[in-house]
Amino acid sequence: MGALLEIEDLSIGFGPTQAVRGLSLQVEAGQVLGLVGESGSGKSVTALAVMRLLDSTARMEGSIRFAGSTGHAARGGQTHDAASLDLLRLSSEAMRRLRGSDLAMIFQEPMTALNPVLSVGEQIAEAIRVHYPQKPRRQVREETLEAMDAVALPDPARRFGDYPHQFSGGQRQRIMIAMAIVNRPRLLIADEPTTALDVTVQKQILELLAQLKERFGLTMLFISHDLAVVSQVADRVAVMRHGLLLEEASREVIFRAPAHPYTRALLGAIPTMKTEIGAPLAVLERGSNMGSLPFREVAAGHWARI
Ligand SMILES: Nc1ncnc2c1ncn2[C@@H]1O[C@H](COP(=O)(O)OP(=O)(O)OP(=O)(O)O)[C@@H](O)[C@H]1O
Ligand SMILES: [Mg+2]
Repeated sequence: MGALLEIEDLSIGFGPTQAVRGLSLQVEAGQVLGLVGESGSGKSVTALAVMRLLDSTARMEGSIRFAGSTGHAARGGQTHDAASLDLLRLSSEAMRRLRGSDLAMIFQEPMTALNPVLSVGEQIAEAIRVHYPQKPRRQVREETLEAMDAVALPDPARRFGDYPHQFSGGQRQRIMIAMAIVNRPRLLIADEPTTALDVTVQKQILELLAQLKERFGLTMLFISHDLAVVSQVADRVAVMRHGLLLEEASREVIFRAPAHPYTRALLGAIPTMKTEIGAPLAVLERGSNMGSLPFREVAAGHWARI
């Protein structure tokens, strides 16, 4: 089907900090790309660059091509050819039209992203109205209830008027997901969507995302520091550290035949939960010249910086 999102040679800096260094990634239509890496590796900054939500102090180079441009973004008199849209060079106005329609994102903390004084139904409905102000009231309400149902919130009609604090943490994350998918985005970015939740609820949310992927053919960039979590939803996995891509392969290959010592260390941490991730990595701490190693194809579809 081809790549829906194509990040090419993306570099992001803040003053002297180089947060992302020459990152290239593709997300194929209908697939989930899992982006993994320890804290500070540049995952969120990458996601925010795609959404163009970084503040103006960020220096960005490279390109972010998004092929999801034939639908909503074409409204308002502007048309774009599929695959011709570079998000880094799009006008703020065109970006505003894409965000929340073709491109949606869910964050780690559902409570901070929800408005405490607006009912959840109203908030989901508002996400529709921002992009489709002409939609009849009744249709907006129907689509809102459908979205609440799609994320398995119990009894949507009765809970439409309830406020965020009347829901559990897991339910609030479901509400955020409903808001994100209500306009049928072509790409959903999920940045640590389950990190704030306890393990049982986390598992339910991951199952929900997998379900939505099947049901709506959703394409997803799924971000987590936890390879075990990523492996539950991702078709392909990309491993980042210090702003550099270290390895990328199908989920199966990452688990069966990881080529990079850092990926192996992350995997080693999964079964025991005791493995000291820092310990076996002395070799990586030669570190700063890591970027001079080539990112090469070690087997078909399997890339590593070794
Ligand atoms: N607005 C900013 N100004 C300056 N530096 C920033 C800014 N945002 C991020 N950084 C820096 O960029 C680097 C990457 O941060 P990022 O938030 O992408 O990490 P992450 O991989 O998402 O980590 P975590 O798992 O903790 O969420 C870090 O060194 C961070 O301090
Ligand atoms: Mg982050």
